[in-house]
Amino acid sequence: MGNYYNPVKIKIASLEVIGNVLNNLNPQLSKIVLLTRGGDFSESQAGQTLYKCLEGFEVKQLEVEISNPDVEDLFHYFQQINHFDYQCIVGIGGGSVLDLSKSLSALKNMEIDSTSALRSVIEQKLYKENPNIVPWIGIPTTSGTGSEVTCWATIWDRANGVKMSVDSEKLYAHTAIIDPTLTASLPKSLTASTALDALCHATEAYWSKNSNEISRVYSLEAIHSIVNHFEKVLNHPTEVTLRKEIALGSLYAGLAFSNTRTTACHSISYPLTLELGMVHGIAASITLAKVMEINFDSIIENDKLLQAFGVSSCSEIQELIEHFHQLSGFSSKLRDYKANEEIIETIAGNAFTKGRMDNNPVALTKEDVKQILLSIY
Ligand SMILES: [Fe+2]
Repeated sequence: MGNYYNPVKIKIASLEVIGNVLNNLNPQLSKIVLLTRGGDFSESQAGQTLYKCLEGFEVKQLEVEISNPDVEDLFHYFQQINHFDYQCIVGIGGGSVLDLSKSLSALKNMEIDSTSALRSVIEQKLYKENPNIVPWIGIPTTSGTGSEVTCWATIWDRANGVKMSVDSEKLYAHTAIIDPTLTASLPKSLTASTALDALCHATEAYWSKNSNEISRVYSLEAIHSIVNHFEKVLNHPTEVTLRKEIALGSLYAGLAFSNTRTTACHSISYPLTLELGMVHGIAASITLAKVMEINFDSIIENDKLLQAFGVSSCSEIQELIEHFHQLSGFSSKLRDYKANEEIIETIAGNAFTKGRMDNNPVALTKEDVKQILLSIY
């Protein structure tokens, strides 16, 4: 039994459909905030195409040079657009750009005069009552975060060493445009780490306490697609048909976990990233097989999960993930990220994110987490 809900209009199409999307959203639309990655985006083909499509609008562009946005970063961008009466936000980029787009759509016209005021707005979820939330459109340029089809955004609070979340059903994108050609120039490490993130979203959604008949179908399809095309896409990065398979895998994973959220692997990944600087997709996938071993008997139709991975045991999944890490130039051992016993103790203590760890089908203790971490030390 279960309920499935996701209101995002999904277009698997060329970026050029943005003109029609904006017109359908609101024929009177005139002012848009455009969030893009920094670097050479403006000169890129995608940048040029987008500017052409947006020629008839008044556009304020924010170039996002950072990744993993912090509450201070969000305040910085908020200040830059707060006096521009935008009716819509378009975000084109990786998870950080999409998470910022989503967060800024939630904060429009709110009276926030400092980073600490913004921190309170997020902690107390005051944006949920904001009557001025504007629609946003997500155009992912990586295949992994799923932010274009989820209703939450990760905002870090490094000053306090915690991860925060901007989260409301009002924050689903109006439309997600999935154009796999946008991912064709991604470097190997980013292709791999984002695909592994999506693989974790799909797998954790499958065993989540909130999984349901529909989310599990998306999970299995996502896992199958990502596992079968991972190595191929690393070997043939410009092959658009392979990029499309990974993009669809990521999209299905997003649709699965948009309804279930993630579980222990993501919960443990946050302190792994904060303490060891590990890339998100690696931090999440490094414990995937170990957590699966613990969860295995509680997983509904666990045989289908193994089948989707094309294996017959959790230890084979460990080998598969290690193989994927190795292909992409990442280590599967915490010692290579400068972990030590003291840091592992801290990570285990901080691995219990509300809404994530308690969504795992088996209740883990701090000692369990420590044992998982030591087993991959
Ligand atoms: Fe993730």
